[in-house]
Amino acid sequence: MSNYIRIAHVNDVPENGRFFFDLPEETVILFNIGGQYYCIADLCTHDEGPLEDGALYDYEVECPRHGARFDVRTGKATCFPATEPVPAYPVKVKDDYIYIQLPQR
Ligand code: FES
Repeated sequence: MSNYIRIAHVNDVPENGRFFFDLPEETVILFNIGGQYYCIADLCTHDEGPLEDGALYDYEVECPRHGARFDVRTGKATCFPATEPVPAYPVKVKDDYIYIQLPQR
């Protein structure tokens, strides 16, 4: 698992729950949606507000500040005022632990 780091145990993220993890340069949100895990940066690209506990609509999280939405599967901005994607991290589960892949730097 190249460049993956362990961020949580599956018990940390119940179904339809979310879990926050601090990387050196940003905080990420791990979502459990229907038993599948998705991870994006906790940082809205509109005005750098945290996405935190923004409402979730299917696979889209809504920024609590001005209502931009992002697809948690890809990080793509799906609703104004955001137009730029948030970083999305590939997720793997192994032996009940959840790993995300960090970008190569
Ligand atoms: S900071 Fe997220 S929509 Fe403005």
